[in-house]
Amino acid sequence: MQAIIDKLTSTAAATRAEDLRAAFAADAGRFTRYSAALDDLLMDYSKCAVNDEIMALLEELCAGVAEKREAMFAGEPINFTEGRAVLHTALRNRSNAPVMVDGRDVMPEVNAVLAAMGRFAEGIRSGSLTGSTGKAITDVVNIGIGGSDLGPVMATLALAPFHDGPRLHFVSNVDGAHISDTLKILSAETTLFIIASKTFTTIETMTNAQTARRFVAEKLGEAAVGKHFAAVSTALDKVAAFGIDPERVFGFWDWVGGRYSIWSAIGLPLMIAIGEDDFGRFLDGGHAMDQHFRHAPFRQNLPMLLGAIGVYHRNVLGYQTRAILPYDQRLSRFPAYLQQLDMESNGKSVTVDGKPVAGSSGPVVWGEPGTNGQHAFYQLIHQGTSVIPAEFLIAARGFEPDLRHQHELLIANCLAQSEALMKGRTLAEAKAQLTSKGMDEEKADLIAPHRVFSGNRPSITFVYDQLTPYTLGRLIALYEHRVFVEGVIFRINSFDQWGVELGKELATGLLPVIEGKVAATGHDSSTAGLVATLLSRAK
Ligand code: F6P
Repeated sequence: MQAIIDKLTSTAAATRAEDLRAAFAADAGRFTRYSAALDDLLMDYSKCAVNDEIMALLEELCAGVAEKREAMFAGEPINFTEGRAVLHTALRNRSNAPVMVDGRDVMPEVNAVLAAMGRFAEGIRSGSLTGSTGKAITDVVNIGIGGSDLGPVMATLALAPFHDGPRLHFVSNVDGAHISDTLKILSAETTLFIIASKTFTTIETMTNAQTARRFVAEKLGEAAVGKHFAAVSTALDKVAAFGIDPERVFGFWDWVGGRYSIWSAIGLPLMIAIGEDDFGRFLDGGHAMDQHFRHAPFRQNLPMLLGAIGVYHRNVLGYQTRAILPYDQRLSRFPAYLQQLDMESNGKSVTVDGKPVAGSSGPVVWGEPGTNGQHAFYQLIHQGTSVIPAEFLIAARGFEPDLRHQHELLIANCLAQSEALMKGRTLAEAKAQLTSKGMDEEKADLIAPHRVFSGNRPSITFVYDQLTPYTLGRLIALYEHRVFVEGVIFRINSFDQWGVELGKELATGLLPVIEGKVAATGHDSSTAGLVATLLSRAK
């Protein structure tokens, strides 16, 4: 891989690939040449520093991806540090073709859980499944964290126009403020709690679940608890110990990673919000992207292109972060969702052979919706000393036909940003602009440098017709596969998350100290000093 990276570095310099203004001026067909689509989902990467030589090298860089991709789809234990297959794709396998894990087709179980979720979701939505006093459920609280929270939160918000079920609330933080503020506005009689945890051991979720349980028991009595709880987990024994009725427990499997679990029963709150049919369309979208990833040639393959350009930005051009900028208010949690997906997957320093990663692995992922970000951090993206590749997302149509003009403004802003990043403004242009407005030469010389934009700042723009369940499914699967492609090129295991464990272990060890049961001996002086300060002020 290093040889191709080196070749990419020298080719980018020799072909002046980064001079985007010149590239657009020289080639009227650049947009067509460097864009690709899956139906209405268009990816324009023409504002990245690529040319045909670079694209050919990127294709070479991705040569090993196909074999690994097929190993994933075939259910091989590619998450080898945990000895697990990686089969979130089976959860949206709408072809229903057999998917084998350890010699057994998992599709019958996948379909059975999906059907059970459908019955439960429709029962809650229609009011045939009620709370303990016979009243219909008006509010559903999902208690989970990480992958058991971010997906349902993000998708429920994204698909608000399709939301015709009970109100949804999400509690994730162990900070008592989160559940307390949520419970304050709810009536126990009409509330259903879904305890979502793959392992059913996560301290935040278990603690919030106990608080919710007390809330129901105190308001309605212990016998009422069963009608107000459901659970989603792979650890069915632990759920049973918590006391949730097995009829209300929806399982999934260890071959579904937490950050890939929105397609599983972890998607139950989303299904309750939008209904079984639209949830099915969401799965259809994910499946369509899977088929595309498996079968489209490199230059038409959106996940391959996105992954290849991601590595080019990180490992060839040295950009340390990438900004996700949806011009879609309903995708406001999409950057946070992608942070877990990408950074928990590819934030690794060791290759599959246990050696240090050569070069860099995954970048920092961050972002906010436009146009809000324009009035916050875009200054740095345009004129800061770091180059930040931006990924814009924009729908051709919103869901507010009466407010079409606002959508036109949104589109204009989105496209103007990528154009400005690419074109920039030279010193001569900046000065001419000032003098044309009557500024004298001397002052213009002083002010003009502040109004220079270097340009040549890369961006990718995704365009889709409308943010439907199908399109959201395609977008999530697209980014999942992008992470996969990058992980293969980095030669890391994208599917474990040992880095999260140390903090968990230390928090467990510190709790008795914070509870005042054990002295802080053995801890460093900073930790011991902070413990003493906080304890002295807690009274
Ligand atoms: O933060 C680490 C992590 O293990 C994530 O990968 C996972 O999504 C999250 O915790 C929640 O885990 P669980 O669903 O088991 O409660």
